[in-house]
This record gives sequence, C-alpha cells and structure tokens, in this order.
Amino acid sequence: MKMLVTAGPTREFFDSVRFISNPSTGKMGFAIALAAAHRGHEVILIAGPVALDDPPGVQTIRVVTAQEMFDASSAAFQGAHAAIMTAAVCDYRPVAPMNKKLAKSDQPKQVTLEATDDICANLGSQKGDRVVIGFAMEDHDHQAHAQAKLLRKQCDAIVLNGPRNVGAERAEVEILQAGGVWSAPISDTKAHIAIVVVELVERLVAEKSRS
Ligand code: CTP
Repeated sequence: MKMLVTAGPTREFFDSVRFISNPSTGKMGFAIALAAAHRGHEVILIAGPVALDDPPGVQTIRVVTAQEMFDASSAAFQGAHAAIMTAAVCDYRPVAPMNKKLAKSDQPKQVTLEATDDICANLGSQKGDRVVIGFAMEDHDHQAHAQAKLLRKQCDAIVLNGPRNVGAERAEVEILQAGGVWSAPISDTKAHIAIVVVELVERLVAEKSRS
C-alpha cells in the first residue's frame, strides 16, 4: 500500500532570517513512516525542518513552509491509499514577508498574519475511498476538540495528542474512529504507537476496499 505521512513543523518567514514556527520535532511522523516501511508499505514522508535523518526505505521530501507542505502533500496523495497527518502545520503566515532582514528599532512592530491552507482538510475533502488520519494537538477540552476536527477535516480517525508528547520518546494518545468510540488511552513509545497507527490504517484501507 502507498502511504503519505506529514511530519514536523513548518516555518513562516516574516523577514529574510526570522520566522514563526513551533517546537514539533517530527519524531511521531518519522516513527510512523519507518513502521510503515518495515511493514512493506511504500511511504512518502513530507517533513518540515527537523533534525532527524531520512528513515531507511522511505522517500523523504523536505519542505519548509505550510504552502510547500500543502503542494507536496497534494501531489503525493494522488497515488496514495492513505495519508497520516502528524505535522504541526503553522495555521498563519505573515501576509507580506520582507525580503531582507528587519532592522532593530525601539518602536513596536506589528506583523499581519493570514491563514494557511488546511492540508488535512483538503485531502479529507477529496479522499474518495482513501483513508485520512489526523492528529489533534489539544491542551483543553481534548476529546470534544479532537472529535470536531475529525468531522471538520473528514478524517477516518483522529489521534488525540498533547503538548507533553512534543519532543518526547514516549507519548500518551487516544484514538477516535469516524462513527466509533474512543480507544482506551495508549501510553507507550512513539515506535510502538506508530505500529498501532499503521495497523489501523491497514485495517481501514482493507475495510474500504471491501465495501
Ligand atoms: N493540519 C494540516 N494543515 C493545517 C493545519 C493542521 O494538515 N494547516 C493537520 C495536522 O497535521 C493534524 C490536524 O490537521 O493532523 C489537526 O491539527 P491541529 O494543529 O491539532 O489543529 P488545527 O486544525 O490547527 O486547529 P487548532 O489550531 O484550532 O487546534
């Protein structure tokens, strides 16, 4: 099966050397890409700027901005059976980035931001019989927010993630399938959670191909 995995943060520059981003390290997405490759799948990993090496057996495409991740993901999804969206995509970007370094001054500065496109929602809206898995980063009203994202982005399942998981080797997640109920909380290494997610994708793709 062909799978697309997004991972890591994006960077949205407001001048030639400074950007808005977040602390995502890409570990969960890289672990999923590696687990999928180990299970014999053809994997395209689309990664924002992270300090991780390309996983063996995985086609890794490095991107920087949300727009680059959107473009690479849209192209890769055409030939895929499933997309697993672990990336911490910036929701906003500066409207008018300066093409040189902003000089320091004592005056307050304002940066006007515009929304980036939602990659996961875009793939969800065109998925047909393909499978889309989202990751929801929540720090309050966790299950309600994650469930709303599952519906809004037309995901087949959503993995509820929390800020404590960022950068760690282990994670605590819960998984909600469309039309289903929440899994029991899973507290394990990211390598093991990756296998759980890939097995879920395999099952969902098989179910869709039978129906
Ligand atoms: N996502 C995406 N493109 C975006 C924003 C998010 O593909 N521009 C994906 C993430 O990769 C994740 C899911 O959408 O799979 C949920 O991301 P999350 O950051 O939890 O939620 P947001 O949609 O950004 O909403 P909010 O910031 O309000 O929580």
